[in-house]
Amino acid sequence: MSVAHGIRTLGVLGSGQMGLGIAYVAALRARVPVLLHDRSEVQIKKGLAFMDKLLEKDVSKGKIKAEEAKEARDRVTVVAPEKGLEGFRDADMVVEAVSENIALKQSIFKDLSAKLPLETILASNTSSISITKIAASTIPEGHTASSELGQKSAARVVGLHFFNPVPVMKLVELISALQTSQETVDRAKAFAIACGKECTTSQDVPGFVANALLMPYLNEAIMWLEKGVATKEDIDKTMKLGMNHPMGPLQLADFIGLDTCLAIQQTLYQGTGDSKYRPSVLLERMVDAQWLGKKSGKGFYDYE
Ligand code: CAA
Repeated sequence: MSVAHGIRTLGVLGSGQMGLGIAYVAALRARVPVLLHDRSEVQIKKGLAFMDKLLEKDVSKGKIKAEEAKEARDRVTVVAPEKGLEGFRDADMVVEAVSENIALKQSIFKDLSAKLPLETILASNTSSISITKIAASTIPEGHTASSELGQKSAARVVGLHFFNPVPVMKLVELISALQTSQETVDRAKAFAIACGKECTTSQDVPGFVANALLMPYLNEAIMWLEKGVATKEDIDKTMKLGMNHPMGPLQLADFIGLDTCLAIQQTLYQGTGDSKYRPSVLLERMVDAQWLGKKSGKGFYDYE
């Protein structure tokens, strides 16, 4: 029997490429009102302009009607910056999509938990960070993990890992923390399906399934480049044409963001202690140089 997600309003925290993509599929495919919040107004403007462009493209390609595009756009409301996380009070679920930093995510979840009703599902789009650690940060001051409030607070936290570009990629990886309730998982999954996605489930291990497999591959390609085994173009061409991948590994690393790749690799390496996950020196140096890939205009390749 399919479970009703019961999400009448969605909150999205972070309007970068992931947050915006999640807002887009929620408004267009699941047809729910979306409250969008980002501490950077510039980022919000950039995100909404990108959403307008995507909707226009879908209309011009005949994928959706003009009124569907307008309805979807009208479903997205920006939370006034002064309201902060209080602006999510009407949301039945909030998806966090900020950068891959555990201290930042824990502090956000602590705040979300303090400011929002206990019934609000708190989802993280993290690519690799422990959902169990994030859930533990929601336990209110003065309560313990075994108290009723402590348990209820952590039970509504779940990992909802979308893939980039969200409007195109079909998968959402679902991750339960040790504390997550089955009801939270079922409702989050039903919501991802309503957004047009298929779901897989992973245990809460570093990198989950997707990035624990993808990151060593990307890192190995960077090491191959570092060692001079082949040019960047030939490494990418080998995997694109030889394996029928849509992008070669260096192009994909640029696309994901080299800072994100490094943060995920560090989580994998620290979380497992396994040297196969140790980030390559070249990747570290490129991030030191602020060469972050497509989003910064320079990575393994140059972008406009
Ligand atoms: N946002 C939204 N839509 C986008 C987009 C973006 N950033 N980039 C491309 N698209 C859309 C295009 O508009 C186009 O849509 P239509 O079919 O409606 O016209 C479609 O995608 C195809 O685009 P293009 O024809 O321009 O280019 P393409 O055929 O080369 O496809 C691609 C682009 C979909 C990005 C493809 O190259 C691809 O699948 N690359 C691999 C992406 C991938 O592996 N993503 C996972 C990254 S890992 C991750 O996200 C998880 C993590 O935790 C790090």
